[in-house]
Amino acid sequence: MLVTCRARVVAVAGHLPERVLTNAMLEDMVDTCDEWITSRTGIRERHIAAPGTSVSDLLLPAAQRCLERAEIEADQLDGIIVGTITPDHVIPATGNVLQHKLKASRAWAFDLINACNGFIAALSCAASWIESGRAQRILVCGADVMSSLVDYQDRETCILFGDGAGCVVVEAGTADGPGIIDLLMGSDGSGAANLCVPASGSAEPINGEVLSQRRQFLHQDGQVVFKHAVRRMAEAADELMQRLHLTGDDIDLLVPHQANRRIIEPTARRLGIGMDKVIMNLELCGNTTGATIPLALNDAWQEGRLTDGCRVMLVAFGGGFAWGSCYLVWGRGT
Ligand code: UT7
Repeated sequence: MLVTCRARVVAVAGHLPERVLTNAMLEDMVDTCDEWITSRTGIRERHIAAPGTSVSDLLLPAAQRCLERAEIEADQLDGIIVGTITPDHVIPATGNVLQHKLKASRAWAFDLINACNGFIAALSCAASWIESGRAQRILVCGADVMSSLVDYQDRETCILFGDGAGCVVVEAGTADGPGIIDLLMGSDGSGAANLCVPASGSAEPINGEVLSQRRQFLHQDGQVVFKHAVRRMAEAADELMQRLHLTGDDIDLLVPHQANRRIIEPTARRLGIGMDKVIMNLELCGNTTGATIPLALNDAWQEGRLTDGCRVMLVAFGGGFAWGSCYLVWGRGT
């Protein structure tokens, strides 16, 4: 696509709640064991927010750190987009709450629901705002308090998820400089029932029966989702790489959605990208839904692996079904 202005990603930060829920602790809660969880998923522990902690609470320290790293003030932001499935409230949008807490006085704000693809979807919106010239600087967030949506009586899901928040600053740069080169997204609503929260929306408002059947919690048919994830994650990144005439050698870092080690490894293999170039945080964070990619980017940045000019492929798949991939060159350039 011909753009007169490229959206460049110039800073990242993340925040995890302090409390850690280990596999051993889960053994005391449901019929599971560390060996099963580790071998089937790669997850050893996850962070869980203290009761009453909202997504905007987790996002605020990440956002403040991210602005510092980008060397901009909150009132220089034109917009805030939050990809989340666990907003503080139905109304107002969590973005609005964060905008106020951050004192980002000039910024518009909204939330976006796209489950595990929420961060890439938010990034795609930010890129469009910036490429069109309608915004100069946007804070793109991915954050979830999954512990508010998970049934800790359901061993098939409660072992998978954790809480966390991450964000990036996206700003206008020159058309031939670094930034978001291309992205794609896809959707297959026929898979909706395989990964969903059956009740609490307009289709099935909360009532006594819903609560007694625990339909307000996240439900997943793990095997079905797994099969689609293995195929779609690889296809989404592969299609983008083919469109851009890239091979695995042209990618410095693959930053995939963190659902399962057994999904990430075949994805990397199919793309011809060695595991040494793959950023993984699921061992210590579990699946943080909207936060997985910005948290992994933050890890890469903190380890000194995400430097100016680094060529990064992001890819995600999850509830919807929805998926996306994004190829970007990191930083402001010289
Ligand atoms: O981020 C959103 C996208 N989500 C995903 O990408 C997740 C995709 N799915 C997965 O990652 C995997 O399907 C799971 C990790 C959820 C499950 O792994 P699996 O290898 O597909 O296991 P399974 O569902 O086929 O279950 C195998 C067995 C079953 O027992 P039987 O029927 O063989 O006797 C389950 O009941 O393991 C049992 N099981 C457990 N055992 C111990 C299921 N959960 C547990 C558990 N601990 N926590």
